[in-house]
Amino acid sequence: MSHSNPPSPKRFSGLGALTGRIRVPGDKSISHRSIMLGALAVGETRVTGLLEGEDVLATAAAMRAMGAKVERGEDGTWRINGVGVGSLLQPQQALDMGNSGTSTRLLMGLVASHPITAMFTGDASLSKRPMGRVIDPLSQMGASFEASPGGRLPLMLRGISPAVPITYRLPVASAQVKSAVLLAGLNTAGTTTVIEPVPTRDHSERMLRGFGASLEVGEENGANGPERVISIHGEADLKPQDIVVPGDPSSAAFFAVAALLVPSSDLVIENVGLNPTRAALFDVLRDMGGLIDELDRREVGGEPVADLRVRHSALSGVEIDPAVVPAMVDEFPVLFVAAALAQGTTTTSGLEELRVKESDRITAMANALTLAGARVEEREDGLVIHGTGGDPLPGTPEGAEVTTHLDHRIAMSMAVAGLASREGVAVDDTSPIATSFPTFETLLASASGTS
Ligand code: S3P
Repeated sequence: MSHSNPPSPKRFSGLGALTGRIRVPGDKSISHRSIMLGALAVGETRVTGLLEGEDVLATAAAMRAMGAKVERGEDGTWRINGVGVGSLLQPQQALDMGNSGTSTRLLMGLVASHPITAMFTGDASLSKRPMGRVIDPLSQMGASFEASPGGRLPLMLRGISPAVPITYRLPVASAQVKSAVLLAGLNTAGTTTVIEPVPTRDHSERMLRGFGASLEVGEENGANGPERVISIHGEADLKPQDIVVPGDPSSAAFFAVAALLVPSSDLVIENVGLNPTRAALFDVLRDMGGLIDELDRREVGGEPVADLRVRHSALSGVEIDPAVVPAMVDEFPVLFVAAALAQGTTTTSGLEELRVKESDRITAMANALTLAGARVEEREDGLVIHGTGGDPLPGTPEGAEVTTHLDHRIAMSMAVAGLASREGVAVDDTSPIATSFPTFETLLASASGTS
């Protein structure tokens, strides 16, 4: 896990145009859910294209510790033999979640409605992140918690069976909280309902249905407009599936922005998942003037997918509508880099949630971009960025490094900024990149012809 990796500093500088075709690894959200749901189905689930990053491997290790067989075949196919809903075993040791908020929050949901006790631990970044948002609804279902001060890790969770079905309106737009409650509802007799005032990524809903759970999604009028109402009926029996994981749009994002910024680039990123609850970055980049074409739109594993052709483009600043935030919540760090080279000003707002990701991504990116020579104003809920009009950023001064705070997306975003800089950008630690995109640096070298 990244918390035990020694820091790995690196300077990223202009490598030349990004050209040819690359394929990014599997979607992180879908990979986590494939292992969790496979581990609850009786029989063998096969998964191809699974993201083999540290976060997903933490989920695999936890499901093994609770009784499932999770194995990688030599051909890269993962085989998961599940225990059945309701039959998770008591883990003998603490579940080490590493850097992964998704593993932690979703697994808390699973454990909450099983009669087992689990200790959750994580690295320094994860141990600062708020868990109260899942502790609240799961406590209403009957689970009990002993958490560190502020509702943080390490924490002990005592699950309960039978748990109590609840109706829960999400106070924050969070797919992780929604998923935790729905997963707890799998082993809870009766109907567990989540009300979403703002839609978030819907992989849990799609995949729970695919595995045979009885789940309904409706719409109701709320005080501020339509709300999604998602109900799951427990206790469920899940049937094993064959899953093909599409490429991760959040990983493709770094290469899309790099190709837009580096002169003469013309890059095809193959097999990119374009679920509408995830893909808003590409629309925003097009609004900024980015040349991004979708080739061969198709379906992979029940999700819309296309190859993206991205060409170097002159970008203009935009004001980003806060309504799109959930559909590109992980992409703001790299969007800030695109904005730093655009013509004019980009304004973002409604980004409070970015302060509780793997790092405080508003402050971390404001500091990192400023050090690299960009003009950035930090506000409580976003950044205002005055772009260079296409000129490269100066880069980090001699002897200075940007700080990644154990956050893979800060490291990769500032690597992209380095490609679009005169002197390069020095990053203090690239080891967190392995949590979500272990092949990032290899792909960068191959796309820029330096491998
Ligand atoms: C995820 C949901 C998002 C996202 C995270 C993955 C998921 O978190 O930031 O990288 O797989 O459900 P929130 O739900 O907390 O916004």
